[in-house]
Amino acid sequence: MRKNIVAGNWKMNYNIEQTQQLINDLKTSLERVTYSARVLVAPTFVNLSAAVSSTKGTSIEVAAQNVHQAESGAYTGEISADMLQSVGVKTVIIGHSERRTYFEEDDTLLKEKVKTALAKGMEIIFCFGEQLDERKSGNHFSVVESQLKNVLFDLDVNQWKQLVLAYEPVWAIGTGETASPAQAQEMHAFIRNLISKAYGEVVGNSISILYGGSVKPANAEEIFSKADVDGGLIGGASLKSADFTAIVTASKS
Ligand code: 13P
Repeated sequence: MRKNIVAGNWKMNYNIEQTQQLINDLKTSLERVTYSARVLVAPTFVNLSAAVSSTKGTSIEVAAQNVHQAESGAYTGEISADMLQSVGVKTVIIGHSERRTYFEEDDTLLKEKVKTALAKGMEIIFCFGEQLDERKSGNHFSVVESQLKNVLFDLDVNQWKQLVLAYEPVWAIGTGETASPAQAQEMHAFIRNLISKAYGEVVGNSISILYGGSVKPANAEEIFSKADVDGGLIGGASLKSADFTAIVTASKS
């Protein structure tokens, strides 16, 4: 059966001292509670190596927030999948709405990033989700469908084992407004059904689909309790160990 996952996307927050501090706090607080979800944290690139060292021997995994589509070369300022793997990072977030909006990452580019990261053997947390106007106009299902189809539906069935999906409605990211548990469930079931139709029920039922967008300790349990919600991708609330730990313990067992 599919795995529940709670991942913290730390975005462009925290220097090295703060990163070490948060990891130490998390190690302590997660040791005191019971949970069965996979737990990942995604610090900024410069702190990945330190994060991998300080989480060694714990159940906390470290992910990157982005990766370049080329294997190597003259791409000043960019980071390759090999570089991430060489510091012990096995998972990468691709397609976050902030990358789509501020760095103009479109489906064509994301497809290249996915292809490269998969070929390098990395696990991908692939993010997508509709804008507010797209939900208001009732187009949210077709937007999500094309985001998935344009980037992922050419993949080989075996490559889906390396994928985790994160549905993050853009209007819920950092706004304090979440999709209701019913809205999240409705979209997650739609996504799973799309995948089952394209790749078969085994793949559809095995893929973890996370919800992201203003998940907090107060709303996590209700959202995670929904049948097709397999955990969360957490922004703001992942920056405080007590809040993130509470969200981890709210995940289904
Ligand atoms: P918030 O939890 O701060 O809304 O961010 C969600 C997110 O973007 C995770 O990737």
